[in-house]
Amino acid sequence: MRYAVFADIHSNLEALERVLGVYASESIEQYIFLGDAVGYSVDPVPCIQRIRSLPLTAVAGNHDQAAVNLFSVDNFSPEAREAIFWTRRNLDEDSKQFLESLKLTFQNHDFTMVHGTLNSPQDFNYMEDGFIAEETFRLMKTPLCFIGHTHVAGVFIKDKEDHICYRENASVDIEAENKYIINVGSVGQPRDGNPAASYCIYDSQAKKVTLKRIDYDIAVAQKKIVDAGLPELLGHRLFMGR
Ligand SMILES: [Fe+2]
Repeated sequence: MRYAVFADIHSNLEALERVLGVYASESIEQYIFLGDAVGYSVDPVPCIQRIRSLPLTAVAGNHDQAAVNLFSVDNFSPEAREAIFWTRRNLDEDSKQFLESLKLTFQNHDFTMVHGTLNSPQDFNYMEDGFIAEETFRLMKTPLCFIGHTHVAGVFIKDKEDHICYRENASVDIEAENKYIINVGSVGQPRDGNPAASYCIYDSQAKKVTLKRIDYDIAVAQKKIVDAGLPELLGHRLFMGR
């Protein structure tokens, strides 16, 4: 099975369309979305409609839950909070129901999905280092766990001696004796200094996880943010990849 695995669209339709365009030529059979369809930018409803048109399995992100009052914005930055208030005013009923329906985790025989970490997924903690990864590794009942949330693509690998290493932006061949936490980065607001959209392909037969980047029209996405009256920083940061 070939899976498209992606996260953190954040209402950026230009980035989403570019990534889905690439997936369309990659013989994808199933789409795996790791949360944060909305927030920060101005196309929440088109982005939700677009991903719902796909054979999709999805989990909730903190911005998805905040947009439908299931998660507090108290710890959000002022810009993120303003964008959530804007999003609440601009969601339609269908989109609200979709966001409300998203679960925090998903698991099949092969992989687990969560936005942040498997320990208290409802708190949306960041997978920032090996100590935090260790807790998720301990809770994993599958060889792979796909995550998002930090907007930085990379892979934590735990070997049979329980050593954990981290490789930023790396593709990996899955080996039976290891466990993997794969952060697929962000489609709509990368934060590793590279503004190109992040996306991932998982081929379960070939046992290969590939992390990729693709340029998109940032100027169009930025202008929409400014024109909607959202904080200019939210547009500017797209060019910086921060
Ligand atoms: Fe996010």
